[in-house]
Amino acid sequence: MHYFNYKTNNLYCEEVRVSDIVEKFGSPCYVYSYRTLIEHFRKLQAAFKEINPLICYSVKANSNLAICKALVNAGAGLDIVSGGELYRALKIRTNPKKIVFAGVGKTDEEITYAIKSGILFFNVESEAEMESIQELAIKLRRTVNVCLRINPEVDPHTHRYIKTAQKESKFGLSFSAARLLLLNRERFFNVNIKGLHIHIGSQITEARPYIQAVAKVSEFIKEMKSAGIKFEYLNIGGGMGIIYKKETTQTANVFARAIIPLLKNTGLKIILEPGRFIVGSAGILVSRVTYVKETELKNFLIVDSGMSDLIRPSLYDAYHEIVPLRKKSKSRQKKYDIVGPICESGDFLAKDRIMPQTEAGEYVAIMCSGAYGFSMSSNYNSRPRAAEILVKGNEYSVIKPRESYLDLVRKEKIPRFI
Ligand code: LLP
Repeated sequence: MHYFNYKTNNLYCEEVRVSDIVEKFGSPCYVYSYRTLIEHFRKLQAAFKEINPLICYSVKANSNLAICKALVNAGAGLDIVSGGELYRALKIRTNPKKIVFAGVGKTDEEITYAIKSGILFFNVESEAEMESIQELAIKLRRTVNVCLRINPEVDPHTHRYIKTAQKESKFGLSFSAARLLLLNRERFFNVNIKGLHIHIGSQITEARPYIQAVAKVSEFIKEMKSAGIKFEYLNIGGGMGIIYKKETTQTANVFARAIIPLLKNTGLKIILEPGRFIVGSAGILVSRVTYVKETELKNFLIVDSGMSDLIRPSLYDAYHEIVPLRKKSKSRQKKYDIVGPICESGDFLAKDRIMPQTEAGEYVAIMCSGAYGFSMSSNYNSRPRAAEILVKGNEYSVIKPRESYLDLVRKEKIPRFI
């Protein structure tokens, strides 16, 4: 579901013609639909209404301040993984009591910053991290709340790079490591263990792996209860998949119906950390075809965006639908590799894609690029990052201007000794 639709053969974002935006702000650019963003957040809220969870939007999916602010205004908390994301969260005046902090490698500086900011809790991923938090809490004379991130060892049936609950995974604590920490919790006298956290992977299209994970965690909660240890929170992470191609992914309602009974049984306050589900289909990447190149084996559409703007196809072999901004009435279908200008063979946006014959100078939209698009972009090949534009109804505004060449070198220095 999204609000990018054709009207009289032109692609619109809500009520704005996308080609008007690109003519004004240039190509490539990310265009986001406010309504799509907020409706996805509301859908999750409604589906889980019965248990009224805290929904912490996962900032890493798209960390633009305007996107985060729109969601915070709608009632979201934030799931962060770095000092930089905390800075963003505080910059838009997110209630710190709605911020949760995950990640395997939080540094002392990041932990200190988060303690001083009074976040809701850290999701602790190792004993060593627990020790660091304890030491810093003593130093700052504070009591700090944490949840333990458990690796429940389930298979979420998703790309191997975005599975996070395999036995060999770097994330979380095994049940036995968590048990040890809990039974020795008095060692960490400045730390309150308030609950448990899981995040089993991303782009998960079925409820089953969540059910398996929550069932395992529920057993553990019972075991701990009989040892006199009680929790207040259970955070089931993010990971809900969206439709990129023709995946049969569950709706928020189907997912909620399947998982709510188990969550209710725990008797704990529930936290969700969705990223992609909220912002994935709310963004497109618009690009201009620079050249059409036909070789003996391939037809290439060489566009002005590439893996530095959207790395998902290169990194995960991810599929993104690619459509023209302007549909032509009579055009034959052709098979293309849609590639970027970057000097890497891995720089492609689609391979062997059948689409209407396209000429140089025409524009295409790479759909469902709202999540892990701009936030994973880079300056590789010294390419300034694309502009980002947010549309709401018939209004639109630049939420990040295109970078300039000066932006690329602004912080660089040439030492005297060369
Ligand atoms: N919570 C934690 C602790 C996470 O690590 C993540 C994502 C999320 C929540 C949000 O997951 P989501 O609801 O968006 O699936 N770059 C990859 C996805 C990496 C996900 C990393 N962690 C991609 O483009 O597919």
